[in-house]
Amino acid sequence: MNDQILTYSSEKQGIVTNTALPMDSDPEMISLRPHCLSDYIGQAEVLETLKIAIEAAKQRGEALEHVLFHGPPGLGKTTLAHIIAHEMSTKLMVTSGPAIEKGGDLIGMLTHLETGDVLFVDEIHRLPRAVEELLYPAMEDFCIDFIFDKGIHARSHRFRLKPFCLVGATTRVGLLSAPLRDRFGIFRSLDFYTPSDLERIVRRSAALLALPIENDGAAELAKRSRGTPRIVNRLLKRVRDYAQVRADGRITRKTVNAALALEGIDEMGLTPLDRRYLMTVIEYYAGGPVGIEAVAATLQEVTDTLVDLVEPFLLKTGFIIRTSSGRKATDAAYRHLKLTRA
Ligand code: ADE
Repeated sequence: MNDQILTYSSEKQGIVTNTALPMDSDPEMISLRPHCLSDYIGQAEVLETLKIAIEAAKQRGEALEHVLFHGPPGLGKTTLAHIIAHEMSTKLMVTSGPAIEKGGDLIGMLTHLETGDVLFVDEIHRLPRAVEELLYPAMEDFCIDFIFDKGIHARSHRFRLKPFCLVGATTRVGLLSAPLRDRFGIFRSLDFYTPSDLERIVRRSAALLALPIENDGAAELAKRSRGTPRIVNRLLKRVRDYAQVRADGRITRKTVNAALALEGIDEMGLTPLDRRYLMTVIEYYAGGPVGIEAVAATLQEVTDTLVDLVEPFLLKTGFIIRTSSGRKATDAAYRHLKLTRA
């Protein structure tokens, strides 16, 4: 099991961690995340829902209702969980569906939560079934039922929990069971960010990193970031290196174009894997319809990677469509790849 506890205090802007952050998380990237609702750019409707719910819960002196976020990776689900804990001035415990293998893992976490604390479960659709069933009474009545023995000797004991807020995140809401989904009071989908929101995000990040960025550089980065803040920040770091070593350190359209050409990112922000996906559908399967398993096998990629990471943006841009008989490449995809239909 791999989880962390972060404490948010109302006096401090930042976070005080009592366990290490995951080794693969770059502290510089984490520093770019907004810490409070007022710093958050984009997703205006989701923010308004949260602002009202947080304010109301604080006025009543209650824990926030359980919140479920749905959407492709990199759109801010984890960041919003941190912000919720910060705004509620409570502790945040972070874990994920696949990290909770046994009921005991979950019970260990739930029994450590204080009143109002936030438990963030990423990839909640991947919780084992037995663990998920423990969550139902925990979410609904703030208690856990322990069952001892089996058959006619079975006895149960109810353990009371402090009222807490579960924040679940999923890239696949369809895989969530109805009983779990129905226990969330707030359910919001995060959508891809607009280029103008991404421009504001990249300007904010550049300011935090003390990087000189020109309007055309910010606009170009925003255009190529697949509607995703995590990507715009990653690209900013690649361009920072390029501008520092090959130019005068300024982030301009020219440096963005040159740096991203090296990364294989095209003018729409498609990555080499996105283009391989489209080329496979077009060249191997005559533009489709083709099942995702067949595309994954041809690309030698894991189906989940394609469904979670590649397809959402290709669907958003209209380069593919999903039909009952499989995926199809659209005319826009052919035009983008400068191909003609056979
Ligand atoms: N950094 C990453 N995502 C952000 C957002 N939505 N607003 C501001 N800064 C961000």
